[in-house]
Amino acid sequence: MVYLDNNATTPLDPAVQEKMSWFLKNHFGNPSSLYPIGHQVKNMITEVREIIANCLGAQRSEIIFTGSGTEADNFALRGVLDALSDKNEVITSTIEHPAIIETGHYLQEKGYKVTYVPVDEMGMIDLQTLEEAISPKTAIISIMHANNEIGTIQPIEDVVKIAKRHGILVHTDAVQSFGKIEVNVNKLGVDLLTVSAHKIYGPKGVGALYIRQGTPIKPLIYGGHQERLLRAGTENTIGIIGFGEAVRVLMEKQNEDKKRIEKLATKLMKGLEEKIPHLKFNGHPEKRIKGTLSVSFLGIEAEAILLALATKDVCVSTGSACSEDSEETSHVLQAIGLQPEVARSVIRMSLGRFTTEEDIEYVLEVLPEIADNLRRISSFEVEE
Ligand SMILES: Cc1ncc(COP(=O)(O)O)c(C=O)c1O
Repeated sequence: MVYLDNNATTPLDPAVQEKMSWFLKNHFGNPSSLYPIGHQVKNMITEVREIIANCLGAQRSEIIFTGSGTEADNFALRGVLDALSDKNEVITSTIEHPAIIETGHYLQEKGYKVTYVPVDEMGMIDLQTLEEAISPKTAIISIMHANNEIGTIQPIEDVVKIAKRHGILVHTDAVQSFGKIEVNVNKLGVDLLTVSAHKIYGPKGVGALYIRQGTPIKPLIYGGHQERLLRAGTENTIGIIGFGEAVRVLMEKQNEDKKRIEKLATKLMKGLEEKIPHLKFNGHPEKRIKGTLSVSFLGIEAEAILLALATKDVCVSTGSACSEDSEETSHVLQAIGLQPEVARSVIRMSLGRFTTEEDIEYVLEVLPEIADNLRRISSFEVEE
């Protein structure tokens, strides 16, 4: 199988798998229990918190484990608004993950004002519109670090500069940048930051929210003293242990992964350009996660390509996995101005740690013929 959908999820790294199996066999204690088997697990969780904090340039006490990246995103927005009861406005962008976009819709229903800042055709947010949207009632600005569909990397440092001039908190969803480019909370200057384990070769169902010390925030979930009273519920111990191992491996392999993935992505992009006419690559040409290729196959329904590739054991996605079930075209592709028929022709290929040169060569062998056949069926003609 050739797996080119690493932005949807990644396979477990073998070291993570090994560590989780060892943990499952040897540790069942509740970290809140006061006897040794509880303490041992609590200490292991503390170690993981330290590993993640080190990787992000944070302090241990600033990392709160959550049940997913989605929960961390919800927590950031709703928790801060709950704490800042004299403010009722949020600024975000039109290309955020549904975890932010739909939280925004919920907040609007509750009477909050949410501004969705537009992006240009490369997916870059408009900083001037962002600054103009700020009011004394703005509580938080949430702009994603890297986009999951087109890979564009946002100028978070500039967002922070603007926000700080107005005394506003900044959250960034770093689920897609973590592990692919440097993510350091102090260099970025953010107050809150979301990460998720299953995008970095860790397990599904565990994420974390970085909360800078002193940031006003209320819990999303009540009912226990875990996570400094900010996220009640017995910890997902096995998930947290796997997350820690994934981050440990990441710190060792991140640079090597990045170089290799970029080289393979360049080979894939050039190969596609050479072999298939009438393609359009989406996202920023430079400020982009290079292993994320969003390609419009003009004149072809992306779903037909996806299914044809699936019969050849190649996994890719159309736009984003999160919108896969819905009939609507991706909100991200709409936001960068693609016409609906062009948006419906977009395939996302996302490379990862386990992508090989042979995988890329295989795709370059099978995809041109698929595209050619599908274009012939649809009698595709390009207007010159
Ligand atoms: C940018 C971004 N944010 C948030 C999420 C949600 O993370 P999780 O799957 O851990 O809920 C995803 C997952 O696709 C994502 O790509």
